[in-house]
Amino acid sequence: MEVVTRREEVRARVAAARRAGQRVGFVPTMGAFHEGHLELMRRARQECGFVVVSLFVNPTQFSPGEDLARYPHDFAGDCAAAAGVGVDLLFAPAAEEVYPPDFQTYVEVEGLSRGLCSDRRPGHFRGVATVVAKLLNLVQPDRAYFGEKDFQQLRVVQQLVRDLDMPVEIVPLPTVREPDGLAMSSRNRYLSPAERRAATALYRGLLAARARRAQGARDPAELAQAVLAALASEPLVRPDYVEVRDAATLAPVEWIEKPVVVAVAAYVGQARLIDNIVLE
Ligand code: PAF
Repeated sequence: MEVVTRREEVRARVAAARRAGQRVGFVPTMGAFHEGHLELMRRARQECGFVVVSLFVNPTQFSPGEDLARYPHDFAGDCAAAAGVGVDLLFAPAAEEVYPPDFQTYVEVEGLSRGLCSDRRPGHFRGVATVVAKLLNLVQPDRAYFGEKDFQQLRVVQQLVRDLDMPVEIVPLPTVREPDGLAMSSRNRYLSPAERRAATALYRGLLAARARRAQGARDPAELAQAVLAALASEPLVRPDYVEVRDAATLAPVEWIEKPVVVAVAAYVGQARLIDNIVLE
């Protein structure tokens, strides 16, 4: 695996791969790899001749007071892990490489960026859409891989590439979970052992909502209540939101007639964790 830090190096390596007739797969990340990231890379490896991973903790998607400065990082471990799953090129730019001093263009996906995580993280999806647009333009992959754990992000990115006619296929992959159900996240590293145990309440709540739906419930409030009850059983968990939204549009629903996503965000100690489940 080659590690590069400059945009022109990425362009040159991708151009060479294209000349060799290879399909280009891309996994954008902020590092601190876990099995969720590695699954995205493995899928890219299976489907593409040349696999590019970016590792960049994007400052524009953090709100003031968030964990930008202490976001977990383990560059040597990440390099070893990416090489281990067969990544060809790791792009790890400095902030000035991505945002030079005269940078002034931002991308905003309007409707999908509202509500859910953006209420607590104003500007977050503008930062995500901007950096993803830049990275997709730079790498120009055939396929780019995103996890369903960040469901609103996935929808924002799908809308972005549709609206801006970007010639890339967005490939979503299911959330990877720990054996006890906790969704894998770089932020799980912030949890103490007691918080780590309590954090399973998010997925327990989502399973309880799924069970209610399987029993015939169609009132979103009933599903949300099931999640909240599970969160309330853990004193270390402070709910941020529980919402039931249309799985395609993320619009609020009053009565369940189409697939919905049940999305939850909660604080556990220092960490703000999110999870979701799609109910067909
Ligand atoms: O999901 C992430 O890690 C980030 O939001 C992404 C897509 C790499 C953009 O910075």
